[in-house]
Amino acid sequence: MDVYAKSFANFHSSEELQILLKQEVNTNDKMILGGGSNILFTKDFNGLVLKNEIPGIAIVHEDNDEVLIKAGAGINWHSFVIDCVKNNYGGVENLSLIPGNVGATPMQNIGAYGVEIKDVFHELEAFDLIENFVRKFNASECEFGYRESVFKRIFKGRFVILNVTYRLQKNPVFNISYGAIEDELKKMGVEEMSVKAVSDAVISIRTSKLPDPKILGNAGSFFKNPVIDFTAFGQLNELISVKGITMPYYKIDDNHYKIPAGWLIEQCGWKGYRKGDAGCYQKQALVLVNYANATGKEIYNLSKEIKISVQEKFGIDIEREVNIM
Ligand code: EPU
Repeated sequence: MDVYAKSFANFHSSEELQILLKQEVNTNDKMILGGGSNILFTKDFNGLVLKNEIPGIAIVHEDNDEVLIKAGAGINWHSFVIDCVKNNYGGVENLSLIPGNVGATPMQNIGAYGVEIKDVFHELEAFDLIENFVRKFNASECEFGYRESVFKRIFKGRFVILNVTYRLQKNPVFNISYGAIEDELKKMGVEEMSVKAVSDAVISIRTSKLPDPKILGNAGSFFKNPVIDFTAFGQLNELISVKGITMPYYKIDDNHYKIPAGWLIEQCGWKGYRKGDAGCYQKQALVLVNYANATGKEIYNLSKEIKISVQEKFGIDIEREVNIM
């Protein structure tokens, strides 16, 4: 279902953004929108939406081994990946087909198939809405974590990311440790590994598992995979063993275990569930879908029911990954 903003403008540079901000000093509520692929509006927005459309891709440094590429925050992420693949620059091929724009990639440290943005990040420039100047951030200043950065925590709402510089490799070491990639490459009959082969494998896996937002409304994973400590992990295993099922998990270190939220949600019986036009995707329970006219509120309410049932069955609080407005 459509939602409306009081006003809307787009900007193509930091200068244009600053002009817009000066014109709109009396508008209290402002939000910066990137590609809009990870946001759920539950009501109309009574303020100004500023859409970041900063363009441009440029090589800022190059040597025999690596290349630093600066991309405008408004560039579509997948088109950036495809550019890198065409030039045989390695590092982002595992992140093929992720919806959204360049500006969002450090914001939530996007990740898939064993790679996160932090692995290829060099630096970014962002406009400080409080101090009114452009500031550079290196990787440690971004404080990257699992789907986290400083821009989602203490600097939430304060900085507008203008561009991001990534470090790509000319002789890449491929990361195919994620089981599904290895299987897919075998299925494709790939004998010689290449940036393109890995990208093609990822595209094929994503296309088979995840709904295309252009066809079926969705925001990718709706929840983060919860990380639990050793004691909670032991208790959970005990609970599961009574039922005679095995639980998938990733061991992060001796005291931290990541549990796939998709599995927890499926165990609660939600996979393939549909109420009106709001649903839980039948091939990946972590993805909530809008079949046509569900309101943002209806999708949100479904996520609330899912959260409660996972809490009741497993004692785990799953956190939403999608930004709720
Ligand atoms: N699983 C189920 N049932 C489901 C879904 C998953 O049992 O319905 C179990 C399976 O055992 C599977 C495991 O969960 O082996 C992991 O599933 P999958 O490989 O699909 O990955 P995920 O943990 O569900 C994460 C990211 C995805 C990313 C994939 C691949 C998060 C929140 N999500 O999903 O990112 O594409 O790994 O690396 O970390 C996104 O953020 O929007 C996104 C799609």
